[in-house]
Amino acid sequence: MNLHKTRLASNTTDQMHRHGIIGAGLIGGYLTAHLAPVLHNIDSNSSITVIGRGYARDDFGTEMSISDFATHTKTLNTCNVTFYEAVTHSVSTEQSLTVDVLWLTVKCTAIASVVNEIGPLLHDRTVIICCQNGIGSDAIVRDAFPKHQVYRAMFPFNVVKLGVGHFHRGSSGTVMLENMVEKSEHDYFSELINGFKQQFYDTFPLDWCDDMDALLWAKCQVNLTNSVNALSNMSLKNTLLNKGYRRVIAQMMREHLQVCEALGIKLPKITKVSAKMIPRVLSLPDWLFPSIAKSMVDIDPAAKLSMWWDLELHRNTEIDYINGATINAARKFNIPTPMNDKVLTHIKALEQSPQRYAVSAQMLLGE
Ligand SMILES: NC(=O)c1ccc[n+]([C@@H]2O[C@H](COP(=O)([O-])OP(=O)(O)OC[C@H]3O[C@@H](n4cnc5c(N)ncnc54)[C@H](OP(=O)(O)O)[C@@H]3O)[C@@H](O)[C@H]2O)c1
Repeated sequence: MNLHKTRLASNTTDQMHRHGIIGAGLIGGYLTAHLAPVLHNIDSNSSITVIGRGYARDDFGTEMSISDFATHTKTLNTCNVTFYEAVTHSVSTEQSLTVDVLWLTVKCTAIASVVNEIGPLLHDRTVIICCQNGIGSDAIVRDAFPKHQVYRAMFPFNVVKLGVGHFHRGSSGTVMLENMVEKSEHDYFSELINGFKQQFYDTFPLDWCDDMDALLWAKCQVNLTNSVNALSNMSLKNTLLNKGYRRVIAQMMREHLQVCEALGIKLPKITKVSAKMIPRVLSLPDWLFPSIAKSMVDIDPAAKLSMWWDLELHRNTEIDYINGATINAARKFNIPTPMNDKVLTHIKALEQSPQRYAVSAQMLLGE
């Protein structure tokens, strides 16, 4: 079904009861499955318009399933969700397709094209929420829609799909939503956060964040591992058990920490150890590392991070928004970032390569 073929009632109230989610992938799926019942509880007239690729349609039916590392599968009522394959620009004016809140759950690499498509979904007061990893995709949205309130949300856990309409959270953490400046928005989203706390305190903890910049730079540090996992062409566990690759990650993180210090950003602690301690732990010898960093290596032995999958599927990675963000900020302070530069160059080469290959830790370390 194409969006322009459907007539939707226009928003005439101050309530934000119509949500849109663009990007029907892993984060979009996990969010939709939880948001649908929360919204229904707050207001039975609420709805979610999901816009995604055709292949995702069956995942967004009237029931969706969620599970995580600690809970059994739950089937949730998602009757208030409607799936569309496209936002078209040929919408006649009497048809209002607008939503009150628009969650962007595509990858950073898709944001530039998404901003050209979402115009018909926005009314003057639509709040836009960017759910991307890395730094900088929200700036593209702000530039495109300077009059709109654009906020960010940070998802700390990883999500995989286990079956049709079944989204599974593989690790823990609270989703953080950037605190909102306007009182009406803050009040509405506080109610939403409370709804999540009441209904999904276990599988979808959600809370306010007062310093989203610091949080995203802290997440960006952790996500530097992503690129090395892609270059190792091994599972994440085997990548981390390899001292050479750990040294590469540690060096990239030290460069990142220098940049954050220059930016005056105090990184919050989002892992078991502080941001500054992570490179030290990674630098431990092989005989000590697995016992000290139990939570890092006590993971699914086959799991691979998203950049590995992006290369596998011949897609561009989010490297420009992760390692690239560190490199760009470093340039402003003349901070050298040789390891991030080298890793970025190799990932870019792999993005263009028809063949998949591994880049050894020795090559990255210049040994
Ligand atoms: N997955 C995780 O565990 C996780 C955890 C934390 C944060 N994040 C972050 O969350 C963001 C989303 O990641 P994800 O893993 O959910 O990505 P994903 O599974 O690839 O989902 C994004 C979906 O959006 C689709 N899409 C792209 N452009 C579109 C457009 N113009 N209109 C409609 N659909 C479009 C993609 O289709 P095509 O690929 O076919 O273009 C894909 O189906 C990323 O920044 C990621 O780093 C992910």
